[in-house]
Amino acid sequence: MIDKDTEEALLALRSYLDQFGFTRFSKYIVSVKLYGLNPSMIGLGTRDSVADFSSYLTGEYSAIGLAACLMIGIPVDYAGLTGLEQRVADRLIAVGLLKREGGLLFMGPYQLISVAGMPLLEDARVNFPSSSNHEVYFGPDSLLLAYYVDTASIQRTDPVLDLGTGSGLVGLYLSYFSDRVTVTDIAPAPLRLVHLNRVLNRRTETVEIRTERYEDTLAQGKRYKAVTFNPPFVALPQELQAPIYAKGPGLDGQDYCRMLISRLDDILAPGGTAYIVSDLPGSVKEPFFVADLQRYAASQKRSIEVYIDSRSDYIAGSQMFGPLGEYLQRENPSLTKEECTARIEQLHRKTLGADCTHLSVMVVRTAGELPSGVRVFNRYRTLPLGGFEVPLKGSPS
Ligand SMILES: C[S@@+](CC[C@H](N)C(=O)[O-])C[C@H]1O[C@@H](n2cnc3c(N)ncnc32)[C@H](O)[C@@H]1O
Repeated sequence: MIDKDTEEALLALRSYLDQFGFTRFSKYIVSVKLYGLNPSMIGLGTRDSVADFSSYLTGEYSAIGLAACLMIGIPVDYAGLTGLEQRVADRLIAVGLLKREGGLLFMGPYQLISVAGMPLLEDARVNFPSSSNHEVYFGPDSLLLAYYVDTASIQRTDPVLDLGTGSGLVGLYLSYFSDRVTVTDIAPAPLRLVHLNRVLNRRTETVEIRTERYEDTLAQGKRYKAVTFNPPFVALPQELQAPIYAKGPGLDGQDYCRMLISRLDDILAPGGTAYIVSDLPGSVKEPFFVADLQRYAASQKRSIEVYIDSRSDYIAGSQMFGPLGEYLQRENPSLTKEECTARIEQLHRKTLGADCTHLSVMVVRTAGELPSGVRVFNRYRTLPLGGFEVPLKGSPS
């Protein structure tokens, strides 16, 4: 999937990143306040405010210029780089991972970020929007999925699976805990990216990449201790075209979630756990999908936890479907942005009758000694903004 020159360029990049402490540098730039929420929050709109780099790119501070260019997208003067940086930059330019125009270097097709200590390349258009939509997805749901995995329950010899891996973020994260990771995808852009990220993270021995449809992975009869799944889950009108990572099948977009949950016995090892992330339409009380989960829990004797981590309310007149409409208009050139927005809004508010979406991680296991059923941990049940009510001092108990 990737050639020798690209592999060598990535290994040279990794060795340079390790030498100057890229992960620490990245955390510093994003800041402790935001890193936990979204380590890749540097984009076109924020790169000038994250920190002032000009004074750090020369003299005794130099050696971070190449990383800053790859990460923040600021053009960097080739002549001002250290010898090591120039050698790495030359290799990256030769394989198309960095651009050179005259004496200046520019970010190539990928942005370099750091997640959980791993350097990762992501489709640069996620954070640096251009005239075309990004081809590989990465977002808060990817981070949330990794966050909720009970990593302490995974042994190094346990086989684990990340279905539809995209950039490979979750699968590579799992490789910190298991030496037998399988990741799958079917689209060329994510498959190329996960190959790049696997080399950048020196995981070619422990992470297997398979070009395989979800359905075929489920049919293979191989079982895993942990399965992570970040499927396309956005509920979108049938007639609208959308990128492969976004539109979920079924009226409410959740049919891939249903597919995995109903077939867990085909893929989970005894004592195994499935982690599924989705943005679930619902009422402010709870996601509509909880009713489906209750049926699965009862008929298959499952213990299911739903962690609702954030909620987006469909506030009347707020134009909240506007950005999605604009993004989908690029895929549906015969429609206007307003038409796309109106169709999405109609589906969510009228057809589904939803008031909001709940970004949730569903954790599904065989009940065993646990009671079978669904436990919804919804931080919005206590206070509208998701906080917890602190009991007043002296209040009667
Ligand atoms: C929401 S993205 C996952 C993003 C990933 N968690 C990350 O952080 O990069 C869903 C991925 O599933 C892949 N996909 C969609 N349909 C698929 C199918 N039927 N079989 C396998 N992969 C599929 C897409 O190509 C996409 O990369």
